[in-house]
Amino acid sequence: MRDAPAVLAHLTGTVVHGAGRGRGLGFPTANIAPDPGSPVPPPAVYSGWVVRHPTGALHRATISVGSNPTFCDTAEIHTEVYCHDTSDDLYDERVGLWFVARIRATVKFASPDDLVRAARQDVLRSEEFLASERGRRVLAHALNAFADTADTATA
Ligand SMILES: Cc1cc2nc3c(=O)[nH]c(=O)nc-3n(C[C@H](O)[C@H](O)[C@H](O)COP(=O)(O)O)c2cc1C
Repeated sequence: MRDAPAVLAHLTGTVVHGAGRGRGLGFPTANIAPDPGSPVPPPAVYSGWVVRHPTGALHRATISVGSNPTFCDTAEIHTEVYCHDTSDDLYDERVGLWFVARIRATVKFASPDDLVRAARQDVLRSEEFLASERGRRVLAHALNAFADTADTATA
């Protein structure tokens, strides 16, 4: 590490197809299959940056790690990313997730509408974290790490 940023967690993975519910809810998410050994943080809603490999394109995001209890009765953990600033679907792309802050615990909502209302608030909170000094430090670290990877790939 070049400095000691406040990175909460970092994982890499590939964007795969989810249940397809998110677009209907107004919150289309990129579903991530984490790379083997890439540590997934505990279930919760988070604020973070998404780096798209290999271009380095960057997006502001709100990330849900959880079993989607509002819709599912299984224990399977999904890692889903809602990008604030693109409607690209990202399918099959490799991405890096740089977690900035935990926003709240995952909730089993009484209705999809309640979930959407909470998700709108999550995005506002996430924007605050991303714009904070901590958010900018994590961003700088993510960009440095990506540049190092690109250097290695072309060396
Ligand atoms: C910002 C955000 C917050 C979320 N919070 C919750 C939650 O608290 N409880 C829950 O059951 N699902 C939550 N989810 C996950 C949604 O249930 C999931 O994205 C939706 O079911 C679509 O899944 P799909 O992409 O597999 O179709 C959240 C998703 C987002 C983007």
